[in-house]
Amino acid sequence: MYPSLVYLNGAFVSPEEARVSAFDRGFVFADGVYEVIPAYGKRLFRLSQHLARLDASLASIRLSNPLAAKGWGEICARLLTANSADDQYIYLQVTRGPAPRDHAFPAETRPTVFAYAQPLKYPEPAQRAAGVAAITVPDIRWQRCDIKAIALLPNVLMRQQATEAGAAEAILLRDNLVTEGSASNIFLGFGDTLVTPPKGPYILPGVTRDLVVELAHAHGIACEERAVSENELRKADELALSSSTKELLAITTLDGKKVGTGKPGALLTRLYALYQDYKRDFRAGKVD
Ligand code: PDD
Repeated sequence: MYPSLVYLNGAFVSPEEARVSAFDRGFVFADGVYEVIPAYGKRLFRLSQHLARLDASLASIRLSNPLAAKGWGEICARLLTANSADDQYIYLQVTRGPAPRDHAFPAETRPTVFAYAQPLKYPEPAQRAAGVAAITVPDIRWQRCDIKAIALLPNVLMRQQATEAGAAEAILLRDNLVTEGSASNIFLGFGDTLVTPPKGPYILPGVTRDLVVELAHAHGIACEERAVSENELRKADELALSSSTKELLAITTLDGKKVGTGKPGALLTRLYALYQDYKRDFRAGKVD
């Protein structure tokens, strides 16, 4: 379903009224970046971290941020009021804007700014209780996966492959190492130790990932950010994916085989509970 209201280049309009040039470089070259920010009780969660990542993505593609943090906050707040749902997410994107087609940047840039809010669709309770299936696929992306680029064709193809295999996510392997999911980061549990691949050019620095690592450290849970081989992936006691919209979700089947006992494990269940506690404190205004 489309949202009833969107923000486009300074105006709040219906999706039907939102018009972009067919020569927009986002449309022609996928020349742009985006963010997905959850909001609980209509409050934006980890806003400064998402805006910092937006700044990093924009800097990487040499576009200056068309808005200050205050401006983004105001747009998001207005979009969140268009919907009655308490828990929503903001999608926002910035492209290099319209220009006659030429790979090199245009002399004059008028970025296109687009944003909307939608209710958050949480995983079904049954899915939450049983965990989801994942498949492994070769990571067919480029070498700057740290940029949250709108050029998502490889991610789309890999996720479609997972969907056709009856799985919820594709876990990506590059040079025998786990990078991340098609739209998520990956956590592994080995006994009492939490492990997640390190940041670098081959993964998106997930805001949810950072919070899970933060919570592990704060609660004395051993947590290692290190390279994970395909072999280790297949031997993990527990697996989970993390993202702003799915939070921390157990993966209990990998390539058709049970992960550990085949049920969500104790370590990642504990971290999910800590995540929910943190959200509760956030809703109560106790934490940012
Ligand atoms: N995707 N890695 C990739 C490739 C992603 O697309 C995402 C999020 C993540 C998790 O990042 P975060 O925790 O900051 O949401 C990791 C969003 C949700 C999307 O494209 O819809």
